[in-house]
Amino acid sequence: MKTILITGGAGFIGSHVVRLFVEKYPDYKIVNLDKLTYAGNLNNLKDIENKPNYEFVKGDIVDADFIQKLFEERKFDGVIHLAAESHVDRSISNPTEFFLPT
Ligand SMILES: NC(=O)c1ccc[n+]([C@@H]2O[C@H](COP(=O)([O-])OP(=O)(O)OC[C@H]3O[C@@H](n4cnc5c(N)ncnc54)[C@H](O)[C@@H]3O)[C@@H](O)[C@H]2O)c1
Repeated sequence: MKTILITGGAGFIGSHVVRLFVEKYPDYKIVNLDKLTYAGNLNNLKDIENKPNYEFVKGDIVDADFIQKLFEERKFDGVIHLAAESHVDRSISNPTEFFLPT
């Protein structure tokens, strides 16, 4: 079984993408990684939360240790990256929510 990681899957766009993949590709394991900010809501996915090919993981994409461990453990075949700040004013005032400063 291939495993696909979808980040931000509890958000507006992500929840539709997660549902589409879970229902259309029963042979793929779909892992939804989301921090559950004000924008994330697992009620968006109530209808598929018990599907055998779906798993929710709560976590932060900028937590490097957590992300490295997750990738080492899960060996994802693909990533769809949708964790984001879709309110543009917030993304400008606080961009480090979404990347690791070097
Ligand atoms: N909404 C639209 O109409 C639209 C249209 C085209 C493209 N997009 C793009 O799609 C992407 C998602 O947009 P959206 O409207 O679904 O956003 P959203 O704000 O509804 O969802 C973002 C999700 O990301 C999660 N998240 C935020 N920070 C995180 C972090 N550090 N770690 C893990 N999860 C985190 C939130 O909890 C939330 O569930 C964005 O890149 C956006 O630009 C959106």
